[in-house]
Amino acid sequence: MNRTIELEQQNVVQAYARPPFVLEDGEGVWLQDSSGKQYLDMVSGIAVNALGYGDPEIADTLRDHASKPFHYSNLYHSEPMARLAARLVDATPFADRVHFQNSGSESNEAAFKFARKWARTHYGEGKTNIVAFSGAFHGRTMGALAATPRPKYQEPFKPLMPGVRFAEFNNLESAAEAIDDSVCAVILEPVQGEGGIYPASNEFMVAVRELTRKHNALMVLDEVQCGVGRTGAFWAYEPYGILPDVLCAAKPLAAGLPIGAVLVTERVADVIHPGDHGTTFAGGPLVTSIADVVVRRVSDSDFLTHVQETGAYLKERLQEINSPHIQGVRGRGLMLGVQLDIPVLPLVQAGYEHGILLLNAGSDVLRLIPPLIVTKAEVDLAVDRIATLLIQVE
Ligand SMILES: Cc1ncc(COP(=O)(O)O)c(C=O)c1O
Repeated sequence: MNRTIELEQQNVVQAYARPPFVLEDGEGVWLQDSSGKQYLDMVSGIAVNALGYGDPEIADTLRDHASKPFHYSNLYHSEPMARLAARLVDATPFADRVHFQNSGSESNEAAFKFARKWARTHYGEGKTNIVAFSGAFHGRTMGALAATPRPKYQEPFKPLMPGVRFAEFNNLESAAEAIDDSVCAVILEPVQGEGGIYPASNEFMVAVRELTRKHNALMVLDEVQCGVGRTGAFWAYEPYGILPDVLCAAKPLAAGLPIGAVLVTERVADVIHPGDHGTTFAGGPLVTSIADVVVRRVSDSDFLTHVQETGAYLKERLQEINSPHIQGVRGRGLMLGVQLDIPVLPLVQAGYEHGILLLNAGSDVLRLIPPLIVTKAEVDLAVDRIATLLIQVE
């Protein structure tokens, strides 16, 4: 057995079922294992590696920082954090301020805390409920998990954070029933990721915005997976023509380094004072310098046009695959789901043999979330390999 795999299996908590190869390097949209085998990456480390691998500007930024401190602490000012905050606020029409975190889950936790303090400050006790939706995934920490209605993830860890209720995603009546004056926040993904690549309908987003206004609750968008260019807009909510109160981002923001960001309006920021919330690592100078490069590059209109065009091309090519197992292709930009009538995991496993990294979203949705720099030629290659795999698993 490969020595790395042996060490992993002996010493690491077995919370993941990893395939039998060891990744060692990458370039562009390609990853390489320790035997030199190349994999076309349609996963990007679960929607993280937007700029692919070996990006020269990211490498230069890292080199510039190599001999400087990676951490000062949130106790002190540092220039890269302030610069990134300004860039994010500039790129986000509704947002006045940002609070940095280390991950998506942590960002959602912060959003819940901000919402509860905001409601308590303005409306007194009792307005503490949070509404989330069927199919949602908001993370694995206790609060985020409480808003992630999947028994497999929740049951072993109960009791969870109280005060979360659920409504059906994309169902206006169900949302209207759940959102009342006791609610301080409604959280949703504009495009559900883990739940199977389901975009919110226009009417649903607008209705949730109206309901949250009517009942004085904050509309919190979880753009941890669908944000930062993934859907072809910088933020996935933009085409809906609404403005949220809070937006959580994470995965691709710092090119693979851990980061989270909670963007808020001034009226939310107003209730948060020194000592209310904090974290040791978030907003450090190294990670925020890298994120500044990512946000500048991805928010550029030519970059976003590339995502729109390549995404549309990938969707079209997937729709052309002649397989009885494909029931439909959905999603936005380079966040696509292929609905299959067969389990998707054997396909993912067969992909390893054929040099392609694929991912599921649920049991029967093939999720395609490649690096945003993927070219049409690489899309062609990916689609050819997927078509071959579909014939093979028949
Ligand atoms: C929409 C969404 N929210 C939150 C999370 C949790 O993020 P993290 O794993 O960084 O804690 C994820 C992770 O997949 C996600 O897709």
